[in-house]
Amino acid sequence: MALSLQGVEKVYSTGFKALNSLCLEVGNGEFFTLLGPSGCGKTTTLRIIAGLETPSKGKVFIGGRDCTHTHPRNRDVAMVFQSYALYPHMSVRENLVLNLRVRRLAQSEIDQRLREVSRMLGIEQLLMHKPGQLSGGQRQRVALGRSLIRRPNIFLMDEPLSNLDLKLRERTRTELKKLHERLQITTVYVTHDQAEALVLSDRIGIMNGGDLMQVGTPQEIYERPSSTFVAKFVGSPSINLLPVTARDSEGGLMLCLGRDGLDIGETALPATQEVLVQARKTDRLVLGIRPESVALRHAPAPGTIPAVIEIVEPMGSVNHLIIRFDGMAEPTIDGEPFVAVVRSNERFERGAVVWLTLRPDRLVLFDAATGMALAALSDAGTWRCV
Ligand SMILES: Nc1ncnc2c1ncn2[C@@H]1O[C@H](COP(=O)(O)OP(=O)(O)OP(=O)(O)O)[C@@H](O)[C@H]1O
Ligand SMILES: [Mg+2]
Repeated sequence: MALSLQGVEKVYSTGFKALNSLCLEVGNGEFFTLLGPSGCGKTTTLRIIAGLETPSKGKVFIGGRDCTHTHPRNRDVAMVFQSYALYPHMSVRENLVLNLRVRRLAQSEIDQRLREVSRMLGIEQLLMHKPGQLSGGQRQRVALGRSLIRRPNIFLMDEPLSNLDLKLRERTRTELKKLHERLQITTVYVTHDQAEALVLSDRIGIMNGGDLMQVGTPQEIYERPSSTFVAKFVGSPSINLLPVTARDSEGGLMLCLGRDGLDIGETALPATQEVLVQARKTDRLVLGIRPESVALRHAPAPGTIPAVIEIVEPMGSVNHLIIRFDGMAEPTIDGEPFVAVVRSNERFERGAVVWLTLRPDRLVLFDAATGMALAALSDAGTWRCV
């Protein structure tokens, strides 16, 4: 069932404005994730969709019907809460099937769903336990199961995996994805874990301070972030943000890094007229480059930038390298170290002098004053406005 939020605002009784005119369309069967830092308004948004909060302004449509003032019970929406509450005096099995009994489903149907959900969440052995006898992670899985078993029109999930250990989180994440592919129930999922958002979602909405900053597919968000905030929030290790100046050169854009004017690349990268116009408006730009788009060599070559490997962080299949540029204390705009990712079989040792180039894929140019993206490098190797 499709879902639509139109100009939804929320001002709490304290006078705090948690949501600023949120507009959001979630398609039928879509897995949509709200991603953002703590306090940005994710839970508030879910509670408004569920009907547990009323918006101060704006409307909520579920399946095309105005549900802004519909009682939660009449929305056929199931929510998994960030802080889950199970009935302590009931067994896991009773907690799971309670709602199905109330709805008078056939016993065979109840049994079948119970088997399926408990197998999926790995809680078959716990069905006779009481919630008090379970670990936090087990309780969270039961809470998740209680919603899944209902098969509502819309699932709302508020950080449902955050209490699980890493292995279990990854396993449950995969199971959730499989389940969604099979059932195709519209889902709004909330997390502050960017990896979870990338893995699970058809589309992601990035929130900050009650605003929806950008909506797009995981790939769009990753490759063409609309601002430095979004760029920084998605991707691990984080994107490198470098201060650059730009000048025109034969229809292209020649970028210079930092105060010392290190040229990035020997040849200027071609740019559309639109980008050149934008770039001429400001002398302070920020270049975003993903750590995996940094190429390193052991020997100098034209257009490469000399640097030193300060720290090597082995991650198994890849190594994260913390890199220092000669004569530049802080190469990035946010004081974060400059990071490159290389395959671990490429021998780059701590202390080594290297020469790096920025691969002209996934480069994004931002206006330093506003943090908004001006241009991204397209597949054809041309700067285009985003
Ligand atoms: N009942 C309330 N009364 C007043 N302010 C509230 C209330 N509930 C939430 N807030 C405030 O609204 C803002 C958004 O809260 P919300 O719970 O939606 O954030 P969140 O994005 O879910 O954060 P987290 O990731 O920490 O769960 C926060 O600043 C919070 O303090
Ligand atoms: Mg929350």
